[in-house]
Amino acid sequence: MFSTVVCALSRAYLESIAKKYIDEALVHEKAGNLVEAAKTYRRAAQVLMTIVSNYPHDPLASVYREIAESLRKKADALEGKIERETKIAVSGGEEEDYHRIAKEFVLEDKPPVTFDEIVGLEEAKQALLDCIVYPSKRPDLFPLGWPRGILLYGPPGCGKTMLAAAVANEIDCVFMQVDAANIMSKWLGDAEKRVAAIFKYAREKYSKERKPVVIFIDEADALLGIYEHELGGEARVRNQFLKEMDGLNTKGRNLMIYVIAATNKPWKLDMGFIRRFQRRIYVPPPDLEMRKQLFQHYTKYIKLSDDVDFDELARATEGYSACDIRDVVMEAYLITVRELFRRGNLDSDPRPVTMEDFRIVLRRKKPSITPEIIRLYEEWSKRFGST
Ligand SMILES: Nc1ncnc2c1ncn2[C@@H]1O[C@H](COP(=O)(O)OP(=O)(O)OP(=O)(O)O)[C@@H](O)[C@H]1O
Ligand SMILES: [Mg+2]
Repeated sequence: MFSTVVCALSRAYLESIAKKYIDEALVHEKAGNLVEAAKTYRRAAQVLMTIVSNYPHDPLASVYREIAESLRKKADALEGKIERETKIAVSGGEEEDYHRIAKEFVLEDKPPVTFDEIVGLEEAKQALLDCIVYPSKRPDLFPLGWPRGILLYGPPGCGKTMLAAAVANEIDCVFMQVDAANIMSKWLGDAEKRVAAIFKYAREKYSKERKPVVIFIDEADALLGIYEHELGGEARVRNQFLKEMDGLNTKGRNLMIYVIAATNKPWKLDMGFIRRFQRRIYVPPPDLEMRKQLFQHYTKYIKLSDDVDFDELARATEGYSACDIRDVVMEAYLITVRELFRRGNLDSDPRPVTMEDFRIVLRRKKPSITPEIIRLYEEWSKRFGST
């Protein structure tokens, strides 16, 4: 009696798991996440076959077997579809040596930056976690999809390039840093071919390695901005780029390819381009608290005198970018190193850096971000920002 109850329970339990998998697979399929859908249909089939092998004499065994078989066929069909889409995506465009082109303009090494090294910018970090890191780790939790284009904009020296590099280290991905200025500068007539080659290469990389691919376009305005004195090829490059981005959102939906673009001149960007970057993240200049943290961060390995006051330093550096603050620390430290060399006492350590050293540097070094320029970013954010 007892064992019958256990059997009935466990069969009901297995049935409920199979049903849960089938429901999940349907959601993935509807959302276009075919890879996850196929995997989940297979899981459901496996659970049904477990019921069949545990209860071979059950009158429903043959029904379960049939359903499992049809789920497997469904998974096969989806995988075939993914394969075909990948092939179409990879073989589109002219036959050319796109490997060579991509290799010439793409840096594949991941820069050694992690999120921990980036001071502040919590909102920007969270936005990148939400739209790249989480979907690439658990696509099944994003049945409605996720943005393929992410734009980082903000004043120079505040962490855009660092953030993009850190994302690449946060996930197991192929990182392709596109040299935008170089693409445009040589033999302009061929620039759009280079853009096509880079995307084609990314699609091929994804289909071979099955890892997310991050295409990072730094200084994106050089490639996609609209300038007064155009030489003729720029519009073609922009159109090619827009075509590629559209491809990622349609036939390339199952390819996990992200495009991160960074710019400090967002107002130069073409409207079509802005629209295709669904996520636009402002990387602001450091506020008071962040400036204090930056001083603390960059003086971590430097001996400081007791009079160094981080709050005062933060107050004195309104308008300084993160990069300016790093430079201020380096220059203040350099004063002490210079002294050491002048004294010729090379076996000893430099003296601790004092507040006066910082004051000397700050008198010379002016902030690189003006209130007017901040206003421009804020206005642009109001119109186009998305965080
Ligand atoms: N949030 C930050 N935390 C720590 N260091 C930072 C931060 N932002 C910038 N830096 C320092 O400033 C340097 C320049 O930053 P980064 O290249 O990321 O700026 P950017 O926003 O891309 O500027 P640009 O618009 O000029 O390309 C970094 O290499 C780093 O040393
Ligand atoms: Mg940069």
